Amino acid sequence: MKPKHKRITTRTLRAMKEAGEKIAMLTAYDYSMAKILDAAGLDVLLVGDSASNVMAGHETTLPITLDQMIYHAQSVIRAIKRALVVVDLPFGYYQGDSHHALHSAIKIMKESEAHAVKMEGGSEIAESVERILSAGIPVMGHLGLTPQSIYKFGTYQVRAKEEEEAQKLLKDAKLLERFGCFAIVLEKIPAHLAAQVTKELNIPTIGIGAGADVDGQVLVTHDMLGITKDFHPRFLRRYLDLYDQIEKAAWRYIEDVKNNEFPNEEEQY
Ligand code: KIV
Repeated sequence: MKPKHKRITTRTLRAMKEAGEKIAMLTAYDYSMAKILDAAGLDVLLVGDSASNVMAGHETTLPITLDQMIYHAQSVIRAIKRALVVVDLPFGYYQGDSHHALHSAIKIMKESEAHAVKMEGGSEIAESVERILSAGIPVMGHLGLTPQSIYKFGTYQVRAKEEEEAQKLLKDAKLLERFGCFAIVLEKIPAHLAAQVTKELNIPTIGIGAGADVDGQVLVTHDMLGITKDFHPRFLRRYLDLYDQIEKAAWRYIEDVKNNEFPNEEEQY
């Protein structure tokens, strides 16, 4: 499929929302995968702090550091020609002092040359969001299930099912839009709430487990490719079963090596 837009910017995403064109976003953490995804025509590549899980094997997103996020972002940036690259501000680098938050965002932008940052939360991080935006750094919001707060929630279950939390989410989304965020990720919330937020905002919403009535979708690439094996949330559609395919390829390789069938005559000098 030939992509419609040459180079994606925050303005392109807004225009896509206005035109009713859906935004396709996936995570990327390394050069090789980012190169494939960019060439395939993904609009946005997210250097997500899910790298903490799928790249480093941590149970949560909390341990990943700013320097580790920058390393992943640098690798992704080297690969892309078209996609907008957004980098997660990791846990502990923006939740407190807003000057510290700005310093973290500037470090990401300067050292990785990425295009934007993403931050989890609403009114709680308002000062940090405003300060970063006023420095000219584009911010993508993230509401609903915010994995950096997992120990506060105590569960990865659907958020904002109750009216009070749904109202707060809607208020937070409007606040982030008013500050100047260019888009908002809505994670694991009821589809009708995501649809309402999408309707009431002028900036695009990107859903993950938030139904179809949003402006775009995001998944963790390792999940949609089936590299992660034991993760089966209802919202996840697997497009490949790479875990099994890689395992089978590894078995064949081991067998060939053990049986002296690799390399053959043509595979040597
Ligand atoms: O870190 C991540 O991969 C994310 C997506 C799930 C939106 O934040």
